Amino acid sequence: MSVGQRSQALTPRDIARRKGGTPIVCLTAYTTPMARIVDRHCDLVLVGDSVGMVLHGLPSTLGVTLDMMILHGKAVRRGLAKALMVVDMPFGSYEESPEQAFRNAARVMVETGAAAVKLEGGGTMAPTIRMLTERGIPVMAHVGLTPQAVNVLGGYGVQGRGEDGERIRSGALAAAEAGAFAIVLEKLAEPLARQITAELPIPTIGIGASAGCDGQVLVVDDMLGLFTDFQPKFVKRYAEFGRDADLAIAAYAREVRDRQFPTEAHVFAAASPTRAREE
Ligand code: KIV
Repeated sequence: MSVGQRSQALTPRDIARRKGGTPIVCLTAYTTPMARIVDRHCDLVLVGDSVGMVLHGLPSTLGVTLDMMILHGKAVRRGLAKALMVVDMPFGSYEESPEQAFRNAARVMVETGAAAVKLEGGGTMAPTIRMLTERGIPVMAHVGLTPQAVNVLGGYGVQGRGEDGERIRSGALAAAEAGAFAIVLEKLAEPLARQITAELPIPTIGIGASAGCDGQVLVVDDMLGLFTDFQPKFVKRYAEFGRDADLAIAAYAREVRDRQFPTEAHVFAAASPTRAREE
């Protein structure tokens, strides 16, 4: 069942109009509490399929399902007031045909309340992007390093340094032409990212694609130091919450073993009318 649109929320059109203006600020989120924080500071919240690796311990994004995206999309939606919410279409849910993509994207929109979906691909996905946008589903495209294609790309390396550059550039143009309202450029060599940004009429959102893009996105758990399995060069850590959690949990374990926790401050004494009110 739909959770409805938010009257104060930014729309895909608002984001599209920001082309060439103040950089668009984006982060991923997968849960309600994190969505609440991200919403206070960001223009766009992406429920990324990175959730598979970051929260579910999967080795890649390939094992993420539509049901997982819908579950996390619903959770994020509950935490948002103003940011535009975009939900990733997971591997296998849209590539077969524009019809398959519409069926699954419509489910995402209706069940999560998202305002748009993101899918990986440029030129090959242009007919699908057109089909979705013409039928009421705004699309954010994604070119460069497309993690769902890791087995074809042969890893998570930098894209656009060689002859693949022209394919990526024309794919980005085709996605914009087909109606995408914005496009993610992931792990793209800076000159190509700047060229695509200059040529496209829609905003480019970079992740590892330089400050030349119209906006930036990071995986929130990466920038908070919560996901530490590996750290790509393009991630800046703004906090060390993983280390802090480790220290906090170690202190708790020590205090429980030493009978230092709980103390009187955490214990309920015998009943009394004043105490009952305080507690
Ligand atoms: O899944 C994700 O989090 C993404 C971003 C890295 C752009 O696609």
